[in-house]
Amino acid sequence: MSERREIVTIDGPSGVGKSTISRRVAAALGYTYLDTGAMYRAVALFLQQSQIDLSDEQAVSSTLAALDLQLLPAVQEDGDVGVVVNGQDVSSAIRTSEMGMLASRVSAIPLVRKRLTEMQQAIGQAGKIVAEGRDTGTVVFPDACWKFFLEADPEERARRRMAQLRAAGQEVDAEELLAMIVKRDRDDQERTLAPLQKAEDAIVIDTTFIDIQEVCRKMLEFVQTKKLS
Ligand code: DC
Repeated sequence: MSERREIVTIDGPSGVGKSTISRRVAAALGYTYLDTGAMYRAVALFLQQSQIDLSDEQAVSSTLAALDLQLLPAVQEDGDVGVVVNGQDVSSAIRTSEMGMLASRVSAIPLVRKRLTEMQQAIGQAGKIVAEGRDTGTVVFPDACWKFFLEADPEERARRRMAQLRAAGQEVDAEELLAMIVKRDRDDQERTLAPLQKAEDAIVIDTTFIDIQEVCRKMLEFVQTKKLS
């Protein structure tokens, strides 16, 4: 491996605590937080609004050519990053479970992955970022200095996602949400291109019984004392 770069990658399934943990680790290190899931969600919304057939490669390609995606810093401290697509603020519109499911579908399209991976690599070019997603340690930044893979029981992840959605004023059925989470993870794991997968050299942390503060403490201790070789 060529020289490793000052990048932290945090991958794992949905509802595992990635966003909150990534934001806090980034803030503690003074690094930029890169929410790659928000990018897939934004593209999903854009393709949906464009009303194209997702299996029509030509249509996806020409629609993507017209995409202008910008990430904005979070409005609130410890809040989600903002996303603007072709001048439209989609920051709240992308944070629904429907958009999570559609993002998962859209993320399996090779053209979408290529476009977003290139964008993410350009953002990370100067290093000093904390990237979270499904493939940040395997595909986007294989040369990151620190890689983590978070896990937690599906029931606990569904509970956390429920609390998040409730806080955002969205009501969802608990069983339906658990079923959606299990399906989304399976689809993300089984796709051929950049599947949800632990990088060989990633450190695994099970967050089922550990609170977020403790997970952040463990990660920061690792980042400040060790580097992957
Ligand atoms: O992390 P999230 O729930 O916002 O991600 C939404 C979907 O986007 C996820 O189910 C799969 C896709 N995704 C991906 O394929 N690769 C990433 N690096 C991040 C997200």
